[in-house]
Order: sequence, then structure tokens, then C-alpha cells
Amino acid sequence: MEDFIKQVSAAGCDTFIIHARKAWLKGLSPKENREIPPLRYDIAAEIKKNFPHLNIILNGGLTTLPQIQDALKTFDGVMIGREAYNNPWFLTELELALFGTPQPDRADICARMVDYIGTQSSTIHSTTRHMLGLFNGMRGARSFRQILSTEVHTATSARAIMDKALTHLI
Ligand SMILES: Cc1cc2nc3c(=O)[nH]c(=O)nc-3n(C[C@H](O)[C@H](O)[C@H](O)COP(=O)(O)O)c2cc1C
Repeated sequence: MEDFIKQVSAAGCDTFIIHARKAWLKGLSPKENREIPPLRYDIAAEIKKNFPHLNIILNGGLTTLPQIQDALKTFDGVMIGREAYNNPWFLTELELALFGTPQPDRADICARMVDYIGTQSSTIHSTTRHMLGLFNGMRGARSFRQILSTEVHTATSARAIMDKALTHLI
């Protein structure tokens, strides 16, 4: 890995995002490769130590604020995959804790997504399916998910189906 980074950085790349586990190209699916090989943050930290002038971004298994604050003591940044997808609100919690950015309003996000859907020619569901985790942990989150993943298929108005999903929450 060090040799790879040496060669690629000599060619001009100065930022490396390291998913800190081995990918087994034979025997494991992409999904299993995100879960089974052990996380080796120590190896990623060693890379940062040996290449201090490069931006080394840590990726893999980061799901909590304390974990991320700790990683930022060693690394130049973090990349968050599944937690950002499954629980997108987490990103607003990070923004608040790390940069003091006020958290947006969830209903306002939904309204803006409805506007966005209006600009798209694809189905309503192709966008709303990525929003299912927006209210995770709150009462009514399950109804929100259900409406946006089932009834949405017969909906003709994004605003109407979003309003219906939100009645369970707000
Ligand atoms: C919805 C989703 C799509 C992803 N797509 C790709 C991809 O196209 N190429 C890739 O190299 N990794 C992809 N990944 C993997 C992530 O980049 C990341 O390396 C991996 O999820 C480990 O980080 P995590 O533990 O924070 O999820 C994807 C992950 C998720 C959750």
C-alpha cells in the first residue's frame, strides 16, 4: 500500500481516501467487503505518519460523533458511507458539532426535495427512496418510510404524497 501511495502521489495525486479494510476480490460480495474484513485504522494512521504532506481521509465503519472527532486528531478528514445514507440527519449533527452550522428543518428539506423532484423526469420514488431514513429515530418514522416506499408508486403528485407522509410526523 505504501508503494502504491508513493507511486500515485509522485504522479501528482495529493489526496487519498482510504477504506481501512482489505477488499477480497474473490469470495466476498461488495456488501460483504464492507462488513467482513476487519477495520485497520492503525494501517491508515501509519500511512498518514509516513506521508504527512498528503491529505489522508479515513473511511470505513465511522458512525458516531466521538469516533469521528477522534479520527480527525490523526487524519485530514473522514468519509462516511452507510451512516450518511441510512441516517442522513447524522450529517447535520456532525456539521453542528464540528463547524457550528445550525441544523436545518426536516420539513423544509422535504419541501425542497419536492421542488427537486419537480425538475426530474424520473419517477417520484426514484428520489424519495433515498430519503427514507430522514426521520429515523423519531415517532412516525416508520409511517413516513412506508408511505414513501409503497403508496408512492401510484402517486401522481410528489407534494401530495410527501404531505401525506409528513402528517405522521409534524
Ligand atoms: C449507497 C452506497 C453506494 C456506494 N457506492 C460505491 C461505489 O460506487 N464505489 C465504491 O468504491 N464504493 C461505494 N460505496 C462504498 C463506500 O464508498 C465506502 O467505502 C463504504 O461504504 C465504507 O464506508 P462506511 O463504513 O462509512 O459505509 C458505497 C456505499 C454506499 C452506502
